[in-house]
Amino acid sequence: MRELALSLFLLFLVKWVKSDFSPPTREQFQSCLLTNHSNSTFKNPINLTNHIPYSRVYTDFSESSSPNSSFLNLNFTSLKPILIIRPNSETEIRTSILCSRKLGVQVRTMSGGHDYEGLSYLSQSPFIIIHLVNLRSININLTDETAWIQSGATLGELYYKIAKTSKIHAFPAGVCPSVGVGGHFSGGGLGTLMRKHGLASDNVVDARLMDVKGRILDRKTMGEDLFWALRGGGAASFGVVLSWKAKLARVPEKVTCFISQHPMGPSMNKLVHRWQSIGPELDEDLLIRVIIDNSHEGNQRRVKSTFQALFLGGIDRLIPLMNQKFPELGLRAQDCSEMSWIESTMFFNWKTGQPLEIMLDRNLRFEDQYYKAKSDFVQKPMPENVFEEVTKMFLEKETPLMILEPFGGKISQISETESPFPHRKGNLYNIQYMVKWTVNNVEEMNKHVRWMRSLYDYMSPYVSKSPRGAYLNYRDLDLGANKGINTSFKAARKWGERYYKGNFKKLSLVKGKIDPTNFFRNEQSIPLLF
Ligand SMILES: Cc1cc2nc3c(=O)[nH]c(=O)nc-3n(C[C@H](O)[C@H](O)[C@H](O)COP(=O)(O)OP(=O)(O)OC[C@H]3O[C@@H](n4cnc5c(N)ncnc54)[C@H](O)[C@@H]3O)c2cc1C
Ligand SMILES: *[C@@H]1O[C@H](CO)[C@@H](O)[C@H](O)[C@H]1NC(C)=O
Ligand SMILES: *[C@@H]1O[C@H](CO)[C@@H](O)[C@H](O)[C@H]1NC(C)=O
Ligand SMILES: *[C@@H]1O[C@H](CO)[C@@H](O)[C@H](O)[C@H]1NC(C)=O
Ligand SMILES: *[C@@H]1O[C@H](CO)[C@@H](O)[C@H](O)[C@H]1NC(C)=O
Ligand SMILES: *[C@@H]1O[C@H](CO)[C@@H](O)[C@H](O)[C@H]1NC(C)=O
Ligand SMILES: *[C@@H]1O[C@H](CO)[C@@H](O)[C@H](O)[C@H]1NC(C)=O
Ligand SMILES: *[C@@H]1O[C@H](CO)[C@@H](O)[C@H](O)[C@H]1NC(C)=O
Repeated sequence: MRELALSLFLLFLVKWVKSDFSPPTREQFQSCLLTNHSNSTFKNPINLTNHIPYSRVYTDFSESSSPNSSFLNLNFTSLKPILIIRPNSETEIRTSILCSRKLGVQVRTMSGGHDYEGLSYLSQSPFIIIHLVNLRSININLTDETAWIQSGATLGELYYKIAKTSKIHAFPAGVCPSVGVGGHFSGGGLGTLMRKHGLASDNVVDARLMDVKGRILDRKTMGEDLFWALRGGGAASFGVVLSWKAKLARVPEKVTCFISQHPMGPSMNKLVHRWQSIGPELDEDLLIRVIIDNSHEGNQRRVKSTFQALFLGGIDRLIPLMNQKFPELGLRAQDCSEMSWIESTMFFNWKTGQPLEIMLDRNLRFEDQYYKAKSDFVQKPMPENVFEEVTKMFLEKETPLMILEPFGGKISQISETESPFPHRKGNLYNIQYMVKWTVNNVEEMNKHVRWMRSLYDYMSPYVSKSPRGAYLNYRDLDLGANKGINTSFKAARKWGERYYKGNFKKLSLVKGKIDPTNFFRNEQSIPLLF
């Protein structure tokens, strides 16, 4: 009887403690950081600044304001982070993780902060942000043609450093220089060299991960399954990746770039239609992507397609190749420019002629813009009239954008299960959809997001099916989201298999092993299987 009373009391106590959990104050968290981990330097752990990257609706984390981000489909208001910590050492990351566990708060790890849904800096549960901006060294070893890169580095910093070290090396990763290595490498990484060298994650040869216990594991000590999961599965589910060892790619000293623009209309529709079959079949040295957008010229809206290309060779080899494979584009030598690979990264960012140092600007991106993005994979060419319809829909909108990135080449030679990124052979190209707006309010957001969803619905007959594929780095919470700590594998399959197909199960098993209490979680983290 006494025992029963006691256990009932204990049960009550547990329940009471649980429901009455109040998150630590900033002072309490700081005190944990400073008091119990004397090794840490933590000069200024309290640093709430209002510099928080964009998302659908801007969230101001400055001290005075109460943040309020609406994730439309989740319908939540993000809490304000208890702290934004910018660690200066790996020990400080460990301390931050251990204090978060002890005090019962979540961790959001942020490298470049470019997550399309803000999952690196927003949360519904009490949380801190570990912002890796101060841990961004890059060490290149030309003997074995590798680099160790800390997660807080950006792609621009990486490209710049490689170019300062060698004229014949490069790294296959994304176009935008302010994207962070931490999120990008762990989610795949599509870019201009992918047809020749694969995704960024395909070129990672080692990684150092800090797990929930604060241990640092490398490829050898973490084992091949976890190492597999980090290369495309999204590292946020498994711990904090401290640094990556990447295999550099060789490039010629001179590469060639061109753009070719075509206004909306029957001839544009024909060209894009042709490109669908040609782009993925071209020589691996040549990548031609297509951007369909709507630019302003005065009051005029101008919908057009831009063919933007990188060729790993000179003009003399490119012109005959184009004449043979894609004569419809009518490319001439005078439309092309030879340049170094690093200049080509500037070219793809519309920064030709500007100082190289612009690649180091961590804030380089569309300023003051809010946006919603989605993705698709295309497996057979769409009929020509789809492009007619799409450009008509674009005329209605101020700033929509669709980027078509050709697959084939190296991407297709890697099997579907070799890494978590499963969209390999059989995919002609990837589509990224984006709509941007400038006014920061919920009504404006709703209008644009609704439009984006209607475009996505319109496209459904023409893209991959069962499941309709999606690319993790173009994160989309419309696909579905975890609700609470105990999301089941079964419930999460709905969105998980769209990103990972059959690899979702293996990712969940890896997750069950490395983080059995589901400490590292977010709205689209991997659920646990045992
Ligand atoms: C302007 C722009 C251009 C883009 N261009 C391309 C492109 O050309 N090709 C392409 O493939 N993608 C592109 N992307 C998408 C980009 O690859 C993803 O948004 C990527 O995840 C961003 O990485 P990040 O470190 O900047 O983001 P963050 O927001 O910092 O992180 C993204 C996710 O990874 C987690 N994470 C970050 N760092 C770590 C770490 N060290 N350890 C564990 N988890 C971590 C975060 O918690 C979050 O869940 C672009 C995005 C933008 C905004
Ligand atoms: C520090 O550790 C001691 C002993 O483990 C504990 O009693 C104390 O509450 C801790 N302080 C903080 C701020 O976490
Ligand atoms: C503190 O430093 C000592 C000596 O360098 C080390 O043994 C110990 O593990 C460190 N503690 C933490 C929490 O990092
Ligand atoms: C907070 O961090 C920002 C960005 O790193 C820095 O500019 C600012 O000086 C810091 N604020 C304080 C009070 O240290
Ligand atoms: C959040 O935004 C909504 C819509 O703009 C507004 O009604 C609400 O008051 C805001 N909440 C806070 C806490 O600012
Ligand atoms: C969020 O949910 C509340 C209540 O369920 C509802 O009234 C509100 O309209 C929703 N907001 C959005 C932006 O969907
Ligand atoms: C560079 O790589 C070579 C070959 O693996 C190795 O022997 C050498 O120690 C490395 N250099 C540095 C500075 O790490
Ligand atoms: C999650 O599941 C575990 C194990 O079944 C259980 O002990 C725990 O209470 C659950 N947590 C929540 C928040 O439901």
